Amino acid sequence: MRSLLPKVCVIIPAAGSGERFGATIPKALVQLVGRTLIEHAVANMSPVATQIIVAAPAGYVNQIRTFFGDSVEVIEGGATRTQSVKLALAKVDEDIEYVLVHDAARSLASTELANRVIRELIKGEKAVIPVMPVSDTIKRIDKDGYVTKTYNRSKLRAVQTPQGFLHGTLIAAHKSKSDATDDAGLIEELGYPVKTIDGEERALKITRTEDLETATKYLIGSGDVDIRVGIGTDTHAFSTGSSRELWLGGLLWRGETGVDGHSDGDVAIHAICDALFTASGLGDLGSNFGVDRPEYKGASGEQLLRETLQRVNLAGFAIQNISVQIIGNKPKIGPRRSELISRLSSLLEAPVSVSATTTDGLGFTGEGKGLSAIATALIVRK
Ligand code: CTP
Ligand code: MG
Repeated sequence: MRSLLPKVCVIIPAAGSGERFGATIPKALVQLVGRTLIEHAVANMSPVATQIIVAAPAGYVNQIRTFFGDSVEVIEGGATRTQSVKLALAKVDEDIEYVLVHDAARSLASTELANRVIRELIKGEKAVIPVMPVSDTIKRIDKDGYVTKTYNRSKLRAVQTPQGFLHGTLIAAHKSKSDATDDAGLIEELGYPVKTIDGEERALKITRTEDLETATKYLIGSGDVDIRVGIGTDTHAFSTGSSRELWLGGLLWRGETGVDGHSDGDVAIHAICDALFTASGLGDLGSNFGVDRPEYKGASGEQLLRETLQRVNLAGFAIQNISVQIIGNKPKIGPRRSELISRLSSLLEAPVSVSATTTDGLGFTGEGKGLSAIATALIVRK
């Protein structure tokens, strides 16, 4: 029996470098509230798709493959957007009826928008594009910067994706040698009608860094985001035996008195682990690596941190940021603060800030008997 659901392939060109965005990584891999842009785009389109093909930047195919299961095909894209779409189009299954082409950069375009595009195709349209009214007046200028034409704004529209096509129509359009910034442009060249439907604000194209702020507001405002915060503290007494080395924030502090403890006694890292466990609801430092677990005796802070990160990731969370404060008379943190920040940030693959304070001579830290740390962790469900 033939399925009532149409067979839809979503092609996601994601092979651009994101020059205008100006990051050191391709734009598709930029993080937006705990997920990369390409992951958002795939998550929003997958409910309507029988097949999904992502065109990835050269050198990032394997990395992007690890984000998805076998349900997403990842291929290397081309030199231009049109080339990337062409390469993906060659991989579309023969029995696919409709192809949606959707920019990874419009990461938040909704499933609902994709469904509206598909509905028009089912009604018999060959090409369907979402559009938005234009709020600025648009003028054409010459090479010297003089205006040559003013357009009637009420007749202009800004074009979004996903754009939907009858499979055969898109194949015919891509036989053209032209390079258009959208696929509908190629269909127009063939003289076929292109139907417009209402687009949506959240399908904005993330082009520059400030667009990420707008996109974040859509996500947070929509309640789609599960953000959690956690707190952790740890304290260790300075060792009187004095043979122990001091490990703090994943760094060795030569010449400083070490602390007693089951592990290496790294209070900063222990507080961070505790904060991450409490944020993700995975217990705390003791229940994960406590004294009743002999395998963690003498464990290094780095080892505990890596293991904590793995457990937090397995529970479905990504770290947004960590803040840790070290409390004690010594060692002096200032001279090694940037070293601490880069060590902890690279171990956690997330921004970590480090501060330090003394307690005005009061309490065990003020009396120089031990070291404490307090950490907060902000995590978000992936
Ligand atoms: N794209 C692609 N292959 C290319 C160029 C672009 O697949 N050779 C994709 C981009 O990854 C993006 C979409 O086409 O998802 C729209 O392009 P744009 O927003 O311009 O992204 P970039 O080309 O990456 O950005 P920039 O133009 O600022 O470099
Ligand atoms: Mg581009």
